[in-house]
Amino acid sequence: MSYSEADIRWIENQLETARIGWQIISYDEVDSTNILAKHLLDQGEPEGTAILADCQTQGKGRMGRTWYSQKEMGIYLSLLLKPRLPPERVHQLTLVAALAVADAINAFSTTQATLKWPNDVFIKEKKISGILSKNIASGDHSGVVIGIGINVNHSRFPAPIDSLATSLFIENGETTDRKLVIATLLRNFDRQYQAYFDQGMAKVAERWAKNSEMFEKKIQVTRGQESFGGTALRLDSNGRLVVLTETGREVSLDSGEVTLL
Ligand code: BTN
Repeated sequence: MSYSEADIRWIENQLETARIGWQIISYDEVDSTNILAKHLLDQGEPEGTAILADCQTQGKGRMGRTWYSQKEMGIYLSLLLKPRLPPERVHQLTLVAALAVADAINAFSTTQATLKWPNDVFIKEKKISGILSKNIASGDHSGVVIGIGINVNHSRFPAPIDSLATSLFIENGETTDRKLVIATLLRNFDRQYQAYFDQGMAKVAERWAKNSEMFEKKIQVTRGQESFGGTALRLDSNGRLVVLTETGREVSLDSGEVTLL
């Protein structure tokens, strides 16, 4: 079922958040909630605005990929933020969001979700959620768009992602009401976002690491044209991934694509 007016009001009534979800704008179909969020940011919409769609025709993933956005099956959500942060710290918000997403998934999943740096949430080695953050620094209104996709009620995925993706339905064997997950996610995000400003990134990094199983594992890192193998060692207090490369060097990454080997 599409989101009704009543669903959106219900979500808003569940929130009692400090900043997130004060305004929820819902659409049946959009190209991408991230593109729309950027326009809304340009128009001066306030921090915490949530843009929700039932279906995306051009859902954006990382590295120019497409996010599979089947109608009524997943959560396709973008949050508009206006943090007072220097640009080099904006990537940290992806980790804040990932924590909020993992907690929300765990509230509904029979199997524990785990985090893969920087933006993926997995269940049993299959991806259930991805996050795409964008720093918008041009124009009169600057800010950050955090786009979140969660696979909720998909019973299957098309090739080539069929062997890589999972959903709450596939894991639990029953459907989940998306509005319950959205309300939980927005509350979690509000809490994690506040904690990030109150306690600092080091605490976020600690919590993030507790929800991840990627440390001590062999990984392949792709950064622009560069690709190298190594072992994921830890997150540093700025949320950078520290990797021991195959050539014995320690490098700290604040962006990049990581594949678990
Ligand atoms: C990834 O893992 O590649 C990131 C996927 C992010 C998908 C979400 S769905 C809502 C928002 N709108 C988009 O176009 N993309 C993000």
